[in-house]
Amino acid sequence: MRFFMFLGAVMIITFIYASFSAKERKPLHSVGGFTMRHDIEEKVTRKINGSNNHGKTIENYQHTERGIMPEKKNLVLVHSSMEGFQTFSADLNPLPKSAENEDIKNIIRNHLLKYPRKPKKRPRNRNQSLKPLTTASSVKTSRAAPVLPVLTPVLTMKLYETGHLNEEIDIQRICTHGGSSLKLLILITSAQSHSMERMSIRQTWMHYASRRDVGMAFVLGRTTNATLNESINQENYIYGDMIRGNFIDSYFNLTLKTISMLEWTDTHCPRVKYILKTDDDMFINVPRLLDFIDGKKDTRTIYGRLAKKWKPMRSNKLKNFVSHQQYRDAVYPPFTTGPAYLLTGDIVHELYMHSLRTFYFQLEDVLITGILAESLNISRVHVDNFCNRRIIFTPCRISFAISVHMIKENEQYNLWRKLMDSTLKCKVTIFENQKHPQLL
Ligand SMILES: *[C@@H]1O[C@H](CO)[C@@H](O)[C@H](O)[C@H]1NC(C)=O
Ligand SMILES: *[C@@H]1O[C@H](CO)[C@@H](O)[C@H](O)[C@H]1NC(C)=O
Ligand SMILES: *[C@@H]1O[C@H](CO)[C@@H](O)[C@H](O)[C@H]1NC(C)=O
Ligand SMILES: *[C@@H]1O[C@H](CO)[C@@H](O)[C@H](O)[C@H]1NC(C)=O
Ligand SMILES: *[C@@H]1O[C@H](CO)[C@@H](O)[C@H](O)[C@H]1NC(C)=O
Ligand SMILES: *[C@@H]1O[C@H](CO)[C@@H](O)[C@H](O)[C@H]1NC(C)=O
Repeated sequence: MRFFMFLGAVMIITFIYASFSAKERKPLHSVGGFTMRHDIEEKVTRKINGSNNHGKTIENYQHTERGIMPEKKNLVLVHSSMEGFQTFSADLNPLPKSAENEDIKNIIRNHLLKYPRKPKKRPRNRNQSLKPLTTASSVKTSRAAPVLPVLTPVLTMKLYETGHLNEEIDIQRICTHGGSSLKLLILITSAQSHSMERMSIRQTWMHYASRRDVGMAFVLGRTTNATLNESINQENYIYGDMIRGNFIDSYFNLTLKTISMLEWTDTHCPRVKYILKTDDDMFINVPRLLDFIDGKKDTRTIYGRLAKKWKPMRSNKLKNFVSHQQYRDAVYPPFTTGPAYLLTGDIVHELYMHSLRTFYFQLEDVLITGILAESLNISRVHVDNFCNRRIIFTPCRISFAISVHMIKENEQYNLWRKLMDSTLKCKVTIFENQKHPQLL
């Protein structure tokens, strides 16, 4: 039995390797210090020299498309490219042969477990000894430097554990019918301890979640603090709007949170038209956002506040320090800043799969909307209404803004009232993407 499982695994892996070699000839460039997916696959292809002909039968299958059976295939693709990667990357520990076999068995077992039935079971955590997690202790940093868990490149799939704690969540309420009737899904990344922030959002702009065509939820990580965990369980039992991923909440893990958000959308809401990623210190002017979306028929686009030619912080005294090993180039590709950005639904799957295949990068906006979007040829569009900073709280400014940053929990009510109270409404007509109205 074990032998046949292994044989089956080898066949599947070979088959998938072959599918890599049969396509992906587009000369997409690598960005920064990142080996992008095609580079990785190049190497995989070279390594498995000779099996190209097997790929012919499936060479038309586009694994980046939301096709007939994308999830099934993609899981295998991810893991197989990982196996391939491990054997040549100097940064990662080579797997002992027996461990590799064990790994393949796990992949197949998890795959079988995951897909024929409800996707309840998530892949078992890998044996820690296989994790090439370079900790800060093994990397020279100055005393003042923040403790960064990963300074040498590590593939994100090595850090990311798939799956969500969807307990007490009515997925149908957040996203009806896989999102086919949903115009907008707003996912709000939130810290464990921010229960007051969540409350003020629930009592103000989260009101729009009651619309049939709008879904909203918070996205959190995991905590080891049992007390905090219990209070989050209670909060979620009452509101049922807290999606929890399988990562420990921390600044360095923010990228994992965004990836978790992409995974959830890809799994439970794959047909939604637009996804807004935002944070719990934001005010979102949902009616203006819905106006903005209305009538748009675009694809493969990210809207937001575009950051052009931003430079990596090279001083290791800074919180967002980026080493040359992590990112080589002098500037980042254009990206939309993290507090709020809007994705078209068609790119969620691709972004999710590709994020796992790149090296981990702790600046989620730079990675997802910059580096990955660049390599996937996704356009980024600047929209001035995404303020993503604090503004003066006048009715006109508020009604102009789609997103306002650095809003304390008690300020949500103020902004909400100024937006909703018809006696306070801005008298000036505001156009999409006009320059910020200085005179208002
Ligand atoms: C790869 O293919 C070439 C030519 O087909 C062959 O000479 C070489 O031995 C192969 N390498 C491996 C590792 O199989
Ligand atoms: C990993 O597996 C090896 C061999 O089965 C075992 O000795 C070791 O304790 C495991 N490590 C962890 C962290 O589970
Ligand atoms: C937190 O609560 C969830 C849901 O009940 C549970 O599955 C998990 O084990 C808890 N974690 C801790 C650290 O208590
Ligand atoms: C756990 O969470 C509770 C409630 O938020 C907090 O009071 C306590 O200090 C936390 N414990 C630890 C060890 O962080
Ligand atoms: C997240 O961050 C914590 C603390 O920084 C770290 O221990 C953990 O390994 C990180 N990754 C995940 C998947 O939780
Ligand atoms: C990138 O996308 C644009 C349209 O947005 C298209 O015209 C162009 O051919 C694409 N480039 C590649 C390399 O696919």
